[in-house]
Amino acid sequence: MLAGTNSQGGVIDGDRLSSLVDSERGTIDRRIYSDPDIYKLELERIFARAWNFMCHESQIPNTGDYFINFIGEDQVIVVRDNDGAVQVLLNTCRHRGNALCRAEQGNTKSFVCSYHGWNYGLDGRLLGIPGQKNFYRDQIDPAEWGLVKAAKVDDYKGFYFATLDPGAPDLHDFLGDVGRTGMEVLLAQGEVVAVDGVQKNIIDCNWKIAVDNLFDWYHVKISHRSAAKAGFLNPRMMMPMDQMVMLGEYGHAIGGPMISEAQQAEIDQLSDEERADIDLLSDAERAKLAPRINERRPVRKKATAEAMGPVGVRASGHPNIFPNLWISTRGMQVSLRLPRGPFETEVWWFTFMPKKFTPDQRRGAMKFISHSFGPAGLLEQDDGENWSQSTQSSRGVVSGRIPHNMQMGLGQDEVLEHPLGQKRIETRVNEHAQRWTYKCWAEWLRADDWDDLMAMRSPSPTGRI
Ligand code: FES
Ligand SMILES: [Fe+2]
Repeated sequence: MLAGTNSQGGVIDGDRLSSLVDSERGTIDRRIYSDPDIYKLELERIFARAWNFMCHESQIPNTGDYFINFIGEDQVIVVRDNDGAVQVLLNTCRHRGNALCRAEQGNTKSFVCSYHGWNYGLDGRLLGIPGQKNFYRDQIDPAEWGLVKAAKVDDYKGFYFATLDPGAPDLHDFLGDVGRTGMEVLLAQGEVVAVDGVQKNIIDCNWKIAVDNLFDWYHVKISHRSAAKAGFLNPRMMMPMDQMVMLGEYGHAIGGPMISEAQQAEIDQLSDEERADIDLLSDAERAKLAPRINERRPVRKKATAEAMGPVGVRASGHPNIFPNLWISTRGMQVSLRLPRGPFETEVWWFTFMPKKFTPDQRRGAMKFISHSFGPAGLLEQDDGENWSQSTQSSRGVVSGRIPHNMQMGLGQDEVLEHPLGQKRIETRVNEHAQRWTYKCWAEWLRADDWDDLMAMRSPSPTGRI
């Protein structure tokens, strides 16, 4: 029997953890959305252990540029130091724990604590202590009291991640094929720059309900009916029957519409110049160029196609980098779902624009984006209300005992393997990615450390699923 002990002293029985997620039956115990002990264990065993997205390099281009983010509930400063390296420092003073940096982003020469004035360099070293001689009588060694740093920091082609756990594998291995394929969606339109500012709002839902929803193509036609009626959503995208799901190690997944092999074969015939312009064409013009690709599916350039692999390039659904990074809106936005207790999630939206966009293209994309997600987004307003009610119902004594149903497509599909190794499920609307995410979630919680997780994690599924 495995026992998970969280840092606050609660104990959760390993057998109980396994029983909360029944992937054979396709049911989820609602207490995973409400139990405070489970929430604490998630912070410790998922967020403090995983690689977490920090920011894009274009958000901190110069020495002293910083950006504040979170790893679970640990606040961190992401800062470019004097050597040009990116540091991830815990935003908590070593004296009495005060937050050093209060602005969300900016530029500084050092971080001076507003409480008693301890001063830290961009690399986290403690540079100065007021009263070091007179009050401490030179009995304190600044070298011992620098800021605590993330255990590892690395980037995927300019997108920075950090982990607090020294036992974590390298970022490349953590992402694996499915995670890297998902990240390539962000790069498919060439070099990007971050749009100033991150949209942030709080939704009273559990973070997992928000993650679950990004794979959910079942709700679109119902939840977003008003957006469709207003002409905001393309009716052809409402409930596509041609779905592809890719399931990666540690819980990464991509789920949603796909580009058929026939469509991709036509795209393969096009030069990079033709591919670059195709998104700007009308449906009729697209159809003339390549008749099968007139369904507004992405047309990726050759380098991206190669990086995504022969299967990944056909995925036009939503990637989630486990635990909480959703790559969305044709690869121009990412959303972090930051946990704020079992019943609240802070939703962050980062926006990235291709450098090559003209002012008109940029304006058009920004209009679409700000009308979709974030505090003013039509779609997130619809979704947030449902996530909130789904979460809040788990508080009830009796309603909290009723399992969620996650059985759509269970046992109905086959994992297909490409000769070059990439695996996928080609099917209709389904709940494969959700079941996979929760199965992996339970493994993260049961594992004592990274070695344990690596030894016990489920391999990416094969065969009947
Ligand atoms: S809490 Fe930072 S200097 Fe005292
Ligand atoms: Fe939605």
